[in-house]
Amino acid sequence: MRINFRIILSIVIVISIIVFLFTIFQVRQEKERLTIDLERRAALLGESLRESVEPLLEKGRPERLQKIVEKFGNRERLAGVAVYDVKDKLIAATPQLSAHLTTPLTFVTNVMNSDQEDGAFSPLGKKEMYLYALPIHREESVAGALLIIHDPSYIQDRLSLIWKNNFIRFLVNALVISLTTLLLIRWSMAGPIARMAEWIKSLRTEKNLEPLSSPPGGVFEPLTREVTHIAKSISLAREVAEEEARLRHRAEALWTPTRLKEQIRTLLREKSLFVVSNREPYMHERRGRKIETLVPASGLVTALEPVLKACGGTWIAHGSGDADREVVDAQNKIKVPPEDPQYILKRVWLTKEEEKGYYYGFANEGLWPLCHIAHTRPSFREEDWGHYQTVNRKFARATLEELEDTEEPLVLIQDYHFALLPRLVKEERSDARVALFWHIPWPNPESFGICPWQRDLLHGMLGADLIGFHIQFHCNNFLETVDRALESRIDWEHFTVERGGQSTLVKPFPISIAFPGPAMAPPAGHAAKPSKEIILKELGVKGKYLGAGVDRIDYTKGILERFKAVERFLEKYPAYQGEFTFVELGAPSRTHIKEYHDLMATVEAEADRINWRFKAKEWQPIVFLKKHHSHEEIQPFYETADLCLVTSLHDGMNLVAKEYIGAREDELGVLILSQFTGASRELRDALIVNPYDIEQMAEAIRTALEMDPAEQKARMQRMRETLKDRNIYHWAANLITALAQLRLGNKGKMS
Ligand code: F6P
Repeated sequence: MRINFRIILSIVIVISIIVFLFTIFQVRQEKERLTIDLERRAALLGESLRESVEPLLEKGRPERLQKIVEKFGNRERLAGVAVYDVKDKLIAATPQLSAHLTTPLTFVTNVMNSDQEDGAFSPLGKKEMYLYALPIHREESVAGALLIIHDPSYIQDRLSLIWKNNFIRFLVNALVISLTTLLLIRWSMAGPIARMAEWIKSLRTEKNLEPLSSPPGGVFEPLTREVTHIAKSISLAREVAEEEARLRHRAEALWTPTRLKEQIRTLLREKSLFVVSNREPYMHERRGRKIETLVPASGLVTALEPVLKACGGTWIAHGSGDADREVVDAQNKIKVPPEDPQYILKRVWLTKEEEKGYYYGFANEGLWPLCHIAHTRPSFREEDWGHYQTVNRKFARATLEELEDTEEPLVLIQDYHFALLPRLVKEERSDARVALFWHIPWPNPESFGICPWQRDLLHGMLGADLIGFHIQFHCNNFLETVDRALESRIDWEHFTVERGGQSTLVKPFPISIAFPGPAMAPPAGHAAKPSKEIILKELGVKGKYLGAGVDRIDYTKGILERFKAVERFLEKYPAYQGEFTFVELGAPSRTHIKEYHDLMATVEAEADRINWRFKAKEWQPIVFLKKHHSHEEIQPFYETADLCLVTSLHDGMNLVAKEYIGAREDELGVLILSQFTGASRELRDALIVNPYDIEQMAEAIRTALEMDPAEQKARMQRMRETLKDRNIYHWAANLITALAQLRLGNKGKMS
């Protein structure tokens, strides 16, 4: 509004100045023109009158003179006419003038004296008049003068009219221009400016660069261009900021080694972490004169190694490598990983009998088949149980030794090998916070109830402040088992067990892998990561499709069922014969146990049988690679296999499934996953199968091989996101935080 007023005021001032100057000029011109015209008319009239007056003056006829004067005196704008004799005496005059001409006029006298007509404006009576006098002659001498008097007020009237008209013109102009300007402002400025503002606003607020309204053009074109540039920059900056914020948020939400380290540092206040497991992360094996370092095929190791690498601490484990004793110090310790030591590995030595009774016997012939519903009968031998107790006590001593200098230490005990260890540690160190993570399933109470020492095992386990399983189902089975077997109070709301003043929280912590993980070097003998074609070629197979399976050779893994599924698939879909090859990377495991020893032979025989049935000149359906494979050797199979078969008959989690997902940076490939794995609870985009249903698995293989790459990608992306969110650092952080936050002596409730 104020701007409008200012614009109009400026216009009015400018117009009034212009009109005023113009009017002055016009008035001056008009006055000049009218004056000249008056003078000219007076002169003409004077000349014609003089011709009439001179003879009459000469004849001395004053009455005739008077008549002529009166006749002329009636003319328009003529105020009057007068005739003087040479002695300045008025001889004749228009009657209305007579009163003003009683005294001689100097002007008239001067004309007679000079014998020159003359004109001048001069007051007469109360008015300004135009006097024009010309001498009258008689015989060549001046005999008098003729005075013509015009009333010039019409000139002033005319000039006033000009002023008046111009003023009216000015008013009309000012009004019209102001209104026009207002309309122009409204149409050409206010409207487009409002549209421009709306457009800029939509640019500012809209997510993309397609604002709701179109930009104003015309005079605003350059402004529109500039604002578009600015908007693009803002939009870009906003996108970058949003992306940064998203990444920041994601980074904050994502668990990384650094974040875990920080979390542990805060929780443990500079104290280190103690981990106890049967399997050690590095085995030293003698190969001739050289000692080689080997990473065992173990889900537990895959999971825990990155945690120890991130947080440091001490890992207490059975020294099972044949050169393990040769590389440790006096306290049986060695810093690992060998290439970049980050934590301490303390080795505990077992005698052959102990290993046989505790590990092969009670743990793997008793508890392992007891907990896995794989229809392998558990064997419980008194002698094995004895060794199991002895070894648990041995590990308790080794652990307590390590805890000596640490107040309120945090101890993470791993797996079914150490059911008795939590209580043994806790009895000596009530200030310690002890967690037991059970990596394998927990069966229903009836199944577990067949173990003759179930009460001792449960009692030992309930020495822990926290017991973790992969899934809630196993937690429930455990609590029901405790409910059936022991005198205790179970709080089903908080999932705690109270027994003899000790409180234990039972909670699921789905274990995972380090994802995103560090870049892996290509396997030995390869400069770069080998392609599927190279892998198949090196295997001596010509084919188009590659399937992979990676396992310890264990009856729980469903390897035989998997082979049968491959056979059925080729039988049902013969077009894939000569095209699809399944490679099983099988690591021999627990081979001193008859079932495992026999299984190895059965798996080999089954592969041979199927290969014999379908084998062609340069192709075979199954390649069974029976050896311990390093991560570097396994990785190319994960990275290139069209499908990965994880067909466990029963599995706590199964990290092979997660490793396959983690390796697929190309977001291709299909995971076929047993419904009896803990992983199937999280990896919902795998093709979930019942490994006992061979038909279904054969169909899953076909579905996987014929799956549209876009669908493969969509599934893989979702599974990779899940993996990113729930990686091993997340697992460790959750487990350790839950343990650290327990209020000891207050029945294990979360603080
Ligand atoms: O994943 C279950 C598990 O028992 C791990 O705890 C263990 O490290 C792995 O299988 C391999 O078994 P083992 O240590 O007996 O070779």
